[in-house]
Amino acid sequence: MTSLCLATVAAARALDDDHPSLEAALRDVGFDVHRADWDDATVDWSAFDAVLLRSTWNYFDDLPRFLDWCAHVAATSTLLNPLEVVCWNTDKHYLGDLAARGIPTVESHFIEPGDAPDAFPDFGEFVVKPAVGAGSRDAQRYLRAQRADAIAHVQRLIADQRSALIQPYLREVDTHGETALLFFDGVYSHAIRKGALLRRDEGPTQQLFAPEQISAREPDPAELALAQQVIAALPFGPLTYARVDLLPSRDGPQLLELELTEPSLFLDTTPGSAQRLATVLAARLMSD
Ligand SMILES: Nc1ncnc2c1ncn2[C@@H]1O[C@H](COP(=O)(O)OP(=O)(O)O)[C@@H](O)[C@H]1O
Ligand SMILES: [Mg+2]
Repeated sequence: MTSLCLATVAAARALDDDHPSLEAALRDVGFDVHRADWDDATVDWSAFDAVLLRSTWNYFDDLPRFLDWCAHVAATSTLLNPLEVVCWNTDKHYLGDLAARGIPTVESHFIEPGDAPDAFPDFGEFVVKPAVGAGSRDAQRYLRAQRADAIAHVQRLIADQRSALIQPYLREVDTHGETALLFFDGVYSHAIRKGALLRRDEGPTQQLFAPEQISAREPDPAELALAQQVIAALPFGPLTYARVDLLPSRDGPQLLELELTEPSLFLDTTPGSAQRLATVLAARLMSD
């Protein structure tokens, strides 16, 4: 029997809404399913045929340690998504690579440790967030009048040896929401709407991730076309799972984020989606 371990972390176990339906679907296709915390040093990862990254949602607190662990798993088992994908995708500098490949991407300015903290355009409203981050942690929205606070935010990030990312705030998200499109093995599966997460005059979330309003959504044709363009532009073969997060803008949808590491897959919103992922995993991992 092929064994598959779903990697999580203690603080995320109860919050991972995908887990029950994914575990059941994986059992149905014949996997021996396990679950373990990525930072649990007692786990023998070589005992599993494959390790699927799922709710490892504290990885950005110590990215080098997480990537070391990914490398260890990749060397002794099969890591999904693969190590090179995770290394590229855990730092939002990849947005620059995709913009260079012609993907309409939310305008992104990176400020590195050692750079001037005010070296970004005079936006009317904008967002400061860490280049390595998830769950909206350390992300905050600012108005032009709050630029001094925003520069102090950038300064805090870079003093901590983190790269900062500054983007214009795309206010169409306040009504249309964000659209996340899920692909399994490069094939579109389903999509959801996520309500806008950043409020004016509100500091970053203190929780593992900011509370989210999620509902199933039919993407509009421009959103589906852009997400497919992103998937086709990836410098890797077809990936077991990929999530493309888009924001609306006056000029059409733009790429906000590409989640290839530990995305929520919103399996509960769409009947059949957990089975589709389980089928993809069975085709990849089970020898006939
Ligand atoms: N440029 C932006 N315009 C509007 N909303 C944004 C922008 N950047 C981030 N947000 C809001 O903040 C949330 C978190 O930002 P995101 O880039 O997805 O980082 P992560 O999910 O990795 O923390 C988004 O889901 C969105 O609601
Ligand atoms: Mg996000």
